[in-house]
Amino acid sequence: MAEKEVVETSEAQIAVHWGEEEFYHPSAKFIAQANMADESVYDRFSLDNFPNCYKEYADLLDWYEYWDEILDTSDAPCFKWFKGGKINASYNCVDRHLPKYKNKTAIHFVPELEEEKVDHVTYQELYVRVNEMAALLRDFAGLKRGDRVTLHLPMSAELPITMLACARLGVIHSQVFGGFSGKACADRIVDSGSRVLITMDAYYRGGKLLDHKEKADQAVTLAAKEGQKVDKVLIWQRYAGKYSGAPDMVKDRDFFVNDVLKDYYGARVEPEKMNAEEPLFLMYTSGTTGKPKGCQHGTGGYLAYTAGTSKYVQDIHPEDVYWCMADIGWITGHSYIVYGPLAIAASSVIYEGIPNYPDPGRPWRIAQDLDVNIFHTAPTAIRALRKIGPDEPAKYNYEFKHMTTVGEPIEPEVWKWYYKSVGKGKAAIVDTWWQTETGGFLCSTLPALKPMKPGSAGPGMPGIHPIVYDDEGAVVEAGAGKAGNICIQNPWPGMFQTIWGDRDRFVDTYFARYCKDPKSKKWQDWPYMTGDAAVVAADGYVRILGRIDDVINVSGHRLGTKEIESAALVCEEVAEAAVVPVNHEIKGKEPDLYVALKPGLKASADLAKKISDTISEEIGKIAKPRKVWIVADMPKTRSGKIMRRVLASISNAQDEGDVTTLANPEIVTEIKKMVQG
Ligand code: WT7
Repeated sequence: MAEKEVVETSEAQIAVHWGEEEFYHPSAKFIAQANMADESVYDRFSLDNFPNCYKEYADLLDWYEYWDEILDTSDAPCFKWFKGGKINASYNCVDRHLPKYKNKTAIHFVPELEEEKVDHVTYQELYVRVNEMAALLRDFAGLKRGDRVTLHLPMSAELPITMLACARLGVIHSQVFGGFSGKACADRIVDSGSRVLITMDAYYRGGKLLDHKEKADQAVTLAAKEGQKVDKVLIWQRYAGKYSGAPDMVKDRDFFVNDVLKDYYGARVEPEKMNAEEPLFLMYTSGTTGKPKGCQHGTGGYLAYTAGTSKYVQDIHPEDVYWCMADIGWITGHSYIVYGPLAIAASSVIYEGIPNYPDPGRPWRIAQDLDVNIFHTAPTAIRALRKIGPDEPAKYNYEFKHMTTVGEPIEPEVWKWYYKSVGKGKAAIVDTWWQTETGGFLCSTLPALKPMKPGSAGPGMPGIHPIVYDDEGAVVEAGAGKAGNICIQNPWPGMFQTIWGDRDRFVDTYFARYCKDPKSKKWQDWPYMTGDAAVVAADGYVRILGRIDDVINVSGHRLGTKEIESAALVCEEVAEAAVVPVNHEIKGKEPDLYVALKPGLKASADLAKKISDTISEEIGKIAKPRKVWIVADMPKTRSGKIMRRVLASISNAQDEGDVTTLANPEIVTEIKKMVQG
C-alpha cells in the first residue's frame, strides 16, 4: 500500500506543478487547405452517434462487398468491425490508385549514404513489385491465406513491398524491428508459428554496413530449439545481385529473393477477398510479464482507421510529400508510413539510417531535397537534434505545413524548439497519443480545428471517448487537477482484436480492471484500459504522464522491465535482477539494472559487461542498461518482494522515502553509496 501511495502522489504533483501552457493557433493558410476543417465532425462522432459514425472512415476504402453490420459485439471484448465486408489492404494501398496516380511516387527510399541515389518507387512500380513478390510467396514459399510469416527487415522499400505482398495473399505478417536480436526474432517466430522468415543481408546504420543475415541464422537455430522449424529463409539483398552478408548460405533453406524473383517477373496475383475482420498483421510489444504480446490487427477496421487518421490528422493530400522518420518495425511505421498513407495515395519517405548521419543537418537536407512538407517524428529525436544541431534547420530551404510528435510526452521547451526552429513558426503540430494496441491515434488535435498546447496531446479523436478512473473506479473529472488511469469508453475500428493465441491475457490486461460485467456483450461495459496515467484539463486536453505498469519507454519504444530482468537471468551467475527507469535527457528513460549474484560469486567489471551483453543478445541493443549495478542484496519487504521503487529513487538521485520497514534497510545505504558515490 505504502508503495502505491508514493507513486500516486508524485503523479499528482507533476500535474499540479506543471502549469497549463498557452494555446498556439494554426495559420489561416494551413486551415484553408486542410482535409478536415469542419467543426461538426465532433458532433457526427459523438457517443450518441457511435458506432455508426465510423461509416465515414469505412467509405474512404474500396470494398469488394460492402459490410452489413458496423460493429459486432457478440464476442466482447473481441470486437469485430464492418462485419460481412470483403476487402484487400494491398488492393486499397496500390491497385486502386493506378488510374489516377500510376506515375506518382508512392515511396521515396533514401539510403543512409548520401552518395547513393534516392529510389523513387511509383505506384505502377509498386504494383509490379508487390505482385511479383506475392507470386513468389505463394508459389515458391507455399504461403497461403491465414499463414503467419516473420519479417526481420531493415528500413528499405522492400519492407513495405513484402508487407503488401503478404496482405495481397491474406498472409499475416509479423515484422520484427530490425534492431532486435536473433533471439528476440526467434521468440516471435515461435509464438506466431512462422515457417518462413524474410530478411535482408545487410543495411547501413551510422555509416557502417551491418551484417543482418547472421541474426537470421541465430533466429532459425533458436526457434528450432523451441520446436518451431523454419524451412525457408528468404533474403533480400541490400544491393540487388550482390551479397553483403555472412558467407554461409544454408542449402535448400536460404534463398536470395532477388534471384528467385526473376522467375516471377511479370506475374500478377489476384488479391484475396478478405473478410473485414480477418487478421492483417501481428505486432509484438512489451507488457508487464516477460513474454511479448502479439497484438493482432484486423483488415477492414485497421485500414479504415489508419486511412481516416492519415487524412484528417496527418492532413496528407496526394500532392504532399510526407515523411515519418519512425521505423516500420514499430506500429508507427505500419500505420503511418505504410498502410494509412498508402491507402490515401500519399508519397511516403522511407529513410534507411539514423537522423544525425553524417551530421545533424541530414533530416533537413532530406526535407529540402525531396520537398517534404509533412514531417513526423518522436520527442527523443527532437531532443537529440535540438541538442546537437539547434541551428541546423535554419540553414535549409524547406517548408513544413504540418509536423507530428509521437511516442512519449514532450517537454514544452522541446515542443517550442520544434515549433520555432524545425517548423519555422509555420507548421501546425499534432501531438498524437496512442499505442501498438490501438492501431491509430487516440488523442490528438485535429490540426485545423483545435489549437495546439505544448505538452498536451489534446482531446480524444473524433469517435474516441477517453475517461479517467482512479484506483477505486471513480471517475476523475476533467479539470480536477488530479491524475488517474486513462481508459477509452468505446471500441474503435483501429483497435487490436486480441493477443495472438492468448485471449485471456487480452481480457485480463486491458479490460479486467474496469469491466462493469464480465459476461456482458455490450461495448458500454468494456472500457479499454490503456495503462497510462493522465491528467485532463478543464478544456478537455489530455496530458499523458507515463505508464502505470512495469513498462519503460526508452526513446519512444516500449520495453518491459520483466523482459529485461529475464534476459539478465539468462547469465548463470545472476540470482536476482531488478530493472528501474532512469531519467535521460535525450531518450526520456533508460533502464538501470540491479543484480544480486549467486552465493560465493564475486562482482567484477567483466561480469557486469557479460550481463549487459547478454541483454543485447537476448533483446537488442535498445534494451542495454545504462549501468549494471552488482549489489550484495536487493532491498526487500519483509515478505521478500524487491522494492524497485527504492532502487528507482537511488538511480534518479531522489529521496528514497521511509525504508525502515524493509527487511534489510542497511542495504539501501550501501547501494546508495555505490550508485551516487
Ligand atoms: C506508449 C505506447 C504510439 C506509437 C509509438 C509508441 C506512450 C505514445 C505518446 C504521446 C505521451 C505517449 C504512452 C503509450 N506514448 N504516444 N504522444 N504522449 N506518451 O507505441 O510502443 O506501443 O508505446 O507510449 O505511454 O502507452 P508503444
